[in-house]
Amino acid sequence: ADIVEHTFEVKNLTVRRLCNEQVVTAVNGSVPGPTIRAREGDTLVVKVINNSPYNITIHCHGFFQLLSGWADGPNMVTQCPIQPGRSYTYRFKIIDQEGTLWWHAHVSVLRASVHGALVIRPRSGTKYPFTKPYREVPVILGEWWKADVVDLEKQALATGAAPNVSDAYTINGRPGDLYNCTQSPTYRLNVIQGKTYLLRIINAALNTQLFFKVANHSLRVVDIDAAYTDPYNTDVVVTGPGQTVDALLTTDQAVGSYYMAASPYASAVGVVFNDTTTRGLLVYNGSTSTSPIMSQMPAANDTPTAHTFFSSITGLAGGPHWVPVPTQPWIGIFGARLAASMNNHSFQPPTTLSMLQAFFFNVSRIYAPDFPDNPPVVFDYTNDTNSLNTSLIFTPKSTSVTVLKYNATVEMVLQNTALIGIENHPIHIHGFNFRVLAQGFGNYDPFNDPSKFNLVNPQVRNTIGVPAGGWAVIRFIANNPGVWLMHCHMDLHLPWGLASAFVVQNGPTSSSRLPPPPADFPQDHWCGGFQQNIE
Ligand code: C2O
Repeated sequence: ADIVEHTFEVKNLTVRRLCNEQVVTAVNGSVPGPTIRAREGDTLVVKVINNSPYNITIHCHGFFQLLSGWADGPNMVTQCPIQPGRSYTYRFKIIDQEGTLWWHAHVSVLRASVHGALVIRPRSGTKYPFTKPYREVPVILGEWWKADVVDLEKQALATGAAPNVSDAYTINGRPGDLYNCTQSPTYRLNVIQGKTYLLRIINAALNTQLFFKVANHSLRVVDIDAAYTDPYNTDVVVTGPGQTVDALLTTDQAVGSYYMAASPYASAVGVVFNDTTTRGLLVYNGSTSTSPIMSQMPAANDTPTAHTFFSSITGLAGGPHWVPVPTQPWIGIFGARLAASMNNHSFQPPTTLSMLQAFFFNVSRIYAPDFPDNPPVVFDYTNDTNSLNTSLIFTPKSTSVTVLKYNATVEMVLQNTALIGIENHPIHIHGFNFRVLAQGFGNYDPFNDPSKFNLVNPQVRNTIGVPAGGWAVIRFIANNPGVWLMHCHMDLHLPWGLASAFVVQNGPTSSSRLPPPPADFPQDHWCGGFQQNIE
């Protein structure tokens, strides 16, 4: 195993896209930022130097961070931010994860431009559970705004109304040729006929689930969220913000030029979204074509296609399919209604000290261990579309957490509602992968739905798109002491409060206890002595 070292300089950068010059925050002068390549078992060391005007944190999305919670990164949850002019080194070991994950800023909405791919290959001497691809290619799907994204969050928080939608989608940072006045070239992947390529697809968009297709080519999914799957053949990949999909593409078509494209899956009623398409090129060696082939994208409201993709993938046969038996069932009910909430709590991170410091140094009153014992307000979750139920409008704000014993096995029912914004919510849990036992539409039925559980080869994920007006049941083992955020990965739903956190207690031995923070951990003068990005 190696030590993989990177230095990230975070700085503002002027970029020209869609006829506009826009100042964005970026790492090492590019959007997306650098790709990190490592192998399972390696130690990752990322020194972040903040030369931007904003407070920054970096989160490596989907990593277990076993006993290294100090390197997880969500602002005010595991650390105080890195202030302008300061630096912090994230250091952790990659254990039992192979595939594609990504890194992104975890403060304000800066991840719109502060993100990049994180590729984890098998350790040397071990192999992929599929034939080694000829080449591996990160495909990062993103969004672009002509406006300053930090204003989006201010607007969304001040008005409670949905933020302005993006002006373009992007493939590896480039909007592509369907937008007017595109200054940067369209993303282009040159390929050789008769080879197999591994596309490492990442949804880094702030607020949009996306369909992805490559004209005339089928895709073979082999890994999602850095967990191997049974091979799954499809002509369309669907991802929610935060999710990753590794898919093999074989160049088995006539020598020519083909579009790859991404367009929104909006699953939304009454939610305004950017209904445009980004595209890049797949160009065969020897192609002389000047009119690349384009395929029809699914309609933005094509829930059957999205649901088929989301629910058909299974974990790799022969993979680690233990399905823990729950000792701690839990139900999470969430929705967005002026404030977004889980179990009628709207999550608010602390302002004076990070939750992980409070956990480690035993500081009280930073968070309250009172979740989810408050019984959630009972209503017909999926039919109560527009009732003006004031107890739901004025959800109390709190920093409430669920305390879990070390090694507790947790089952959660995530019940989406139909309040105001009827949309899928990609719920992400830090620090753990979970098994997705079942998902469906309507209200979860505790008597009949357990018969649908896949206890044999469930898919393993770190982010689940809980269907609009539907539910999903997940299980995980709380084997990692520390504080782990759970939140909607629609970026503006987090400051609205669609989040909660698990506090996992230390275990009995020194190898099951969170070690102290590293020496350069940003902890001087408590976090609150400094201005946050958003007032
Ligand atoms: Cu991808 Cu809490 O993050």
